[in-house]
This record gives sequence, structure tokens and C-alpha cells, in this order.
Amino acid sequence: MIGIFDSGVGGMTVARAIEQRCPGYPLVYFGDIARTPYGSKSSETIKKYSASNTDFLLEHRAKLIVIACNSAASAALPTLQKQYKVPILDVITPAVKRAAIISKNGRIGIIGTRATIKSGIYEQGINQERPGTRVISHPCPLLVPLVEEGWLGKQETKMIVRRYLHPLRTRQIDTLVLGCTHYPLLKHLIGPRIGRRVQLIDSSIEAARSVRSFLDTHPDLASQLHDPEKESRFFVSDLTETAHQLAAKIFGRPITLKKANA
Ligand code: DGL
Repeated sequence: MIGIFDSGVGGMTVARAIEQRCPGYPLVYFGDIARTPYGSKSSETIKKYSASNTDFLLEHRAKLIVIACNSAASAALPTLQKQYKVPILDVITPAVKRAAIISKNGRIGIIGTRATIKSGIYEQGINQERPGTRVISHPCPLLVPLVEEGWLGKQETKMIVRRYLHPLRTRQIDTLVLGCTHYPLLKHLIGPRIGRRVQLIDSSIEAARSVRSFLDTHPDLASQLHDPEKESRFFVSDLTETAHQLAAKIFGRPITLKKANA
């Protein structure tokens, strides 16, 4: 199975994108709702949680791991890649590559949680890919709780999105990376407010593309993972009403969530 973990249900935007691009590959998902949010935690704590989430997925026969959480990827990717033998992909690396390629004017905006922005991982990655790029990052800590509350079209959410994007609007960026699992659900507000000339990069879609290309270039592993008869499984460390609602919203169908401890 392809193992995917996130700090909660937001990473299902990544799972959904993988499902669409890699049909026939069953997923095992773990959302660490009991310990969410990761975006406000220290890097040490996020690393510890990420390792226990990975162990959980390996126990459930995952042979490829995808870190679907930007905050977890920003803190724990190299550590997990050293610690485990299975291939570990993430949401940040492919979004970095895409941003470096598509920006025309070399001015790229990044929005994410405090942990992701503080890590500086997007700046470092983009400047490695394309030296001299100007990366303007901005944390948007209120957006995750707004999405979790289902406030996707409320006036208050529009106002907060506008306010967060203001510093980026004045810096002539032509590309904006949505560096958090929850932001794809706010694309309809972010797009018009950042301006039509700014291209949005959805890190969940980029992650799904990278999984597809990984499978295409690793046919032996791909054939072990391919099993159209097997159903995907979704585990969470706490069962909440919001989790059910958000999961159904992301997948466009009800999702059965099972409680488990990592
Ligand atoms: N999944 C997290 C991310 O992508 C957002 C939620 C959290 O802070 O845990 O950064």
C-alpha cells in the first residue's frame, strides 16, 4: 500500500490527488488528529510524531511513504529518509521544483503554517533549484482552523485571506505556493485575492504528480503496490465530527475513518 500521513485530515487533499493520478494503488492513510496541529509545534516534537506515524504505516504494510503534511515534511524529511529503508516522498520537494520552473520573474510567494515558514525549507529548496530567486514567505496560522470549521466562504475568512495576502501582493510575485494541506480548499478565495496574474501551486497536486512519476520509474515496486481489488484505509488518532465532515468534503464522498494510535 502507499502510506500517507498528515497531522490530521487536511492531508486527504494529497491522498485524493494521489487516488486520482494513481488509480488501482490502494492507500493507507494516517491522520494524527489527537496531536494536531503540527504547525505550531517545535521541530523536535514534529520529528518524533512523524517517526511514530511512519512506524504505524509500515505496520500496515506501506511500502512507500508520502509525508502529506507540509509542517511534518519541513521538520522531518531528511531524518525520516535516513532512519527508514522504504522510499519516502513529501509534499514540499515537488512544489519547490515546480515553482522554480514556472516563475517567469523569479519572485515567488510561499504561504504555510508557522512551522513550515520558520523552517525556511521552501527558500532553501527554491534557491538551490534556481539561485537568485526572491522568495517571499508569509505564515497564515488562522487559515487551518477556519478550514476545519468549514468556513470556506464566510466573509470573515475572505477578510483574513485578503489581510494575509496583502504583503505578498505588494511584492510583485508571479507564483504563489499553497504550502499547507488545507489551503487547496481555499483556492477559490486565494486566487482572486492574490490576482489573476499570479500562478498558484497546489502542493497536493505536485505531490501526487511526483508519486505517479516515482511509480513509473520504479516498475518493480509499482507492481507490488498495484492492487485494484484492495480498498484504501483511513485511520485517525481521534474520531471527531469535523474530521468526518472534512474528509467527505475533500473526497466528495463519505469516508470511513477508523480510530488508531500511532
Ligand atoms: N497539515 C499541516 C500542514 O500542511 C496543517 C495543519 C497543522 O498545522 O497541523 O502544514
